[in-house]
Parts: sequence; structure tokens; C-alpha cells
Amino acid sequence: MQTVRDIETLRDAVADLRSGGRTIAFVPTMGALHAGHMALVTEGKRRADHVVVSIFVNPKQFGANEDLSTYPRREAADARMLEEGGCALLWAPDAEIMYPQGFATNISVAGVSRDLDGAARPGHFDGVATVVAKLFNQVRPDVALFGEKDYQQLAIIRRMVRDLDLPIDIVGVPTQRDADGLALSSRNLYLSEEERRAARALPRALGEAASAIIDGTPVEDALEAAREKLAKAGFDPVDYVELRDAETLAPVALLDRPARLLTAAKIGRTRLIDNLAVTPAV
Ligand code: PAJ
Repeated sequence: MQTVRDIETLRDAVADLRSGGRTIAFVPTMGALHAGHMALVTEGKRRADHVVVSIFVNPKQFGANEDLSTYPRREAADARMLEEGGCALLWAPDAEIMYPQGFATNISVAGVSRDLDGAARPGHFDGVATVVAKLFNQVRPDVALFGEKDYQQLAIIRRMVRDLDLPIDIVGVPTQRDADGLALSSRNLYLSEEERRAARALPRALGEAASAIIDGTPVEDALEAAREKLAKAGFDPVDYVELRDAETLAPVALLDRPARLLTAAKIGRTRLIDNLAVTPAV
């Protein structure tokens, strides 16, 4: 696996990978890789001849009081995992390459970015859309893979790709979880042992609310019960527990179409997110 840090070398390396009409799958990440990221690499290998992964801790998607400076950075270990996982090329630019002096462009995907994490983290999704658009133009993949773990992010990228006619097939990959149900996340590294135990309440509360809604409990009652369970387990604040349309993320008051249950809540100083599909029984 080759690691490249400047755009010219990247373009040459990608051109080599493409020779003979070979296809490229792309997995953008911020590093501190775990089995969730590697599931995207594995799916990429199924869908294209080569997999390119990027590691870039994108300053534009972190708010002023967020964890940009403490976000885990472990490129050597990441590179070993990627090598073993069959990744062909690691794109690891630094901030000066991504945002040179005078950088002035912003990509904002209205509607689907507005609520949920968009409301809780102002500017976050503009930062994500802007960096992903840049990464897509740098790598020019045929396919790009994103985790359902960051469901709103996936919906925003799908919208952006459609709106800008980008010739990239966007593939969503199911959330990879620990044995007790907690979604794998680079931010789980921040949790104390006690917080890690309490965090199990997050997937459990979502699962219970999803079953209740499918069984006919009024949506708002099921959501409120989930909020209460999370507060009782020690989450503070519970930013949201919401049922949304699976594609547009518009609010859903009655389960009459494919929906998604989404939550974000803080335990100690760590903000966790999770979501589950809620599909009407036929
Ligand atoms: P990061 O948090 O590193 O995640 C990179 C990709 O891995 C995302 O598509 C995310 O949804 C996926 N992922 C993370 N945990 C997962 C899990 N448990 N199961 C399945 N997939 C999982 O998301 C970002 O980075 C950034 O916002 C990025 C898209 C790279 C733009 O900077």
C-alpha cells in the first residue's frame, strides 16, 4: 500500500490504479480506524478493483468547542490495518494541502442538513460536504462507501451527489457494533469504563423504541420513553431522539413509510450518535 500526501502524486497513483480500465472504490475517514471503517473497505473491495482510503481530520467540520485537538490520531496503526485489509492507496493530506491560504468555497446542502446534528452542531455538515466534494474531485472514484452509523451524513452526501451530478455510486454500509450493541466509533476511545458500560443504554433504548413503534405505540410516546431511559442511564444532555423519513429526514409522526430512528446524546464529555431502521410491518 502506498501512502501519498500531495495532490500530484495522488493523481499519478490513481491513474496507475485505473490502468486497463480498473475501477476505484473510495472510503473517506478521519482515521483511528476500527472494524466499522474496515467494513467499508471490505465492501469497497467487493464493488471495485481497488480501494483508496483517505485519512484527514477535517478542521472545517469541528465546532469551536469540539474535539479537533484531541481527536485520536494514529496513522501508523491505521496504515497497518489498511494494508492488511487490502487497501491499495492511502491519501493522507495535511490541512495546508486541503485548505491552502485563501480557500473560500463552502458547500451547503439545505434541507437534509438542517435538523438533528445540523442543529446541534452548526456548520458541521457544511464542513463535511465541502471536504467530501474536494476528496471526490481529488480521487475521482467510481464508488464511495459511507457508514449508516452517520446516517444524516450519508443522506447529505447522497443529496449532494445527485444535485451536482457527480458520477459516483454512493453505497451505505450497515453499522458495525460491539457485542453489547454499542456502535463502533473512534470517539468510544474517550469513554471511561463506567461510561462505556452505561453507553449500552443507547442502542438498547433505540431498539426498544423501534419495536414499540412497529407494534403500534404512538411515535411521540415511544420517543419520549427512549429519552427518559437515556437520561436515567446517565446521558446528559440527550440532544434528540427522533423518527424521520429514511431519505429526506423530514419528521414522521405515523409509521407509514420507511423511517429511521436517530439519536444523539452525551455521556460525560463524549457525544455519541446512533440510529436504526424502522420499517412498517406489511
Ligand atoms: P469517520 O468518523 O472517520 O468515519 C468514516 C466512515 O466510517 C463514515 O462513512 C462512517 O459512517 C463510517 N463508520 C464509522 N463508524 C462506523 C460503524 N460502526 N459502522 C459502519 N461504518 C462506520 O465520517 C467521517 O469520518 C467524516 O465525516 C468524513 C466523511 C471522513 C468527512 O470528513
